[in-house]
Amino acid sequence: MDKIRIEGGVSLRGNVRLSGAKNAALPVIASCLLTGGWHRIRNIPSLKDITTIETIMSGIGVDFRKDNDILSINSDNINECEAPYDLVKTMRASILLLGPLLARTGKAKISMPGGCAIGARPVNLHLKALVSMGVDMSLDHGYINAKTDRLKGADIFFDIPSVTGTENIMMAAVKAEGPTILKNAAKEPEITDLACMLRSMGARIQGDGTDTIVINGVEDLTPAEHDIIPDRIEAGTFMIASAMTKGEIKIFGCRPDHLSAVIEKLRSVGADIEITDNCLFVKGPEIIKSADIKTMPFPGFPTDLQAQFMTLMCIARGSSVIEETIFENRFIHVSELKRMGADITINGNQALVRGKDRLLAAPVMATDLRASASLILAGLVAQGGRTEVNRIYHLDRGYEALERKFQGLGARVWREKA
Ligand code: EPU
Repeated sequence: MDKIRIEGGVSLRGNVRLSGAKNAALPVIASCLLTGGWHRIRNIPSLKDITTIETIMSGIGVDFRKDNDILSINSDNINECEAPYDLVKTMRASILLLGPLLARTGKAKISMPGGCAIGARPVNLHLKALVSMGVDMSLDHGYINAKTDRLKGADIFFDIPSVTGTENIMMAAVKAEGPTILKNAAKEPEITDLACMLRSMGARIQGDGTDTIVINGVEDLTPAEHDIIPDRIEAGTFMIASAMTKGEIKIFGCRPDHLSAVIEKLRSVGADIEITDNCLFVKGPEIIKSADIKTMPFPGFPTDLQAQFMTLMCIARGSSVIEETIFENRFIHVSELKRMGADITINGNQALVRGKDRLLAAPVMATDLRASASLILAGLVAQGGRTEVNRIYHLDRGYEALERKFQGLGARVWREKA
């Protein structure tokens, strides 16, 4: 297994360009199942999760052609409707195939995603909404078996604003008979990006980006061209890296409007942030002040940056409270950060972080995607030797060439191949 080694202590300097957002690319790729013809998607990041969804969809009969960051996708010859356990267990977002497969073929067999390191992560809201749209649903030997003669529009209220749940139902509803009204929908930028893709295909969707989305089903869709939005979580990770290292980083290809909560929070801890069009300049402070965060659905502070922000607070002056409200087990990075000398006490869904003057280099283990990034950030400031982050395959699921991008900013970071 690959590992990443880091020698801390460098103030990061220079320019970095963001990749396309994984969590926008996955549903957009899934949406290409809705109709045949060649779709053309630009700004696709090179990530393990992207190859996983390609492998599952290839098994269904979908054709892919890759040219740098452009992915051409053709689903003319779908011959299967199954997403097998071996692949789904490596990527829960495979559930995103359920909605578009039902809309296109009226049937789907998808391995039921299990829990994962950060929480139980049920998909009950996806399934309940599809049942109300006329889908027969059963669970057989660990597989969701879904079928319908014709999807029907419905009034759906989500108890929790689920991101992939909202995306799944949007994709099911675009070809349903009649209108679907989705209330308490997720408002994340990835939802709006999917809505843009679907509208380019001819779908009739309004209200994306608000908590009420109205979709009027249409008979036919056409293939589309689309640009994936930049990865706001990757942007936030570089912003925090600059704040931690007294850095001066220009982040290009940004959507600052997707990062308001993060910009506001980093300014409050002392970072100097200048915003120009699609570029953010982030200058780290001499002394990092402490600040509390509470993770919330968009536009609140994202759970996918909680671990990284906690690492920043480990070297802040004073104490901070980090409250995680989205996932019940998203503090798995804490025990690894403690191995590097962090002072953190967990009480339920809150972590009390007492800032220290320094972190110390140590071998640590990545436990999920965003936790991996938080450990690399810790390594960038750790003193007294090399930090070694093991099980880096988690990182490769969702950050494109992170160590190379950090090298471009002057960091002493290397990947050691297994
Ligand atoms: N939930 C349910 N029932 C459901 C669906 C969700 O109880 O049917 C609960 C979840 O357990 C969680 C909350 O609702 O407590 C919100 O979960 P959500 O469904 O919004 O999460 P998701 O769609 O599975 C996406 C991202 C995650 C990101 C979350 C929250 C993708 C592929 N994944 O997950 O990204 O953390 O939204 O913003 O879009 C990551 O990239 O590292 C990652 C985990």
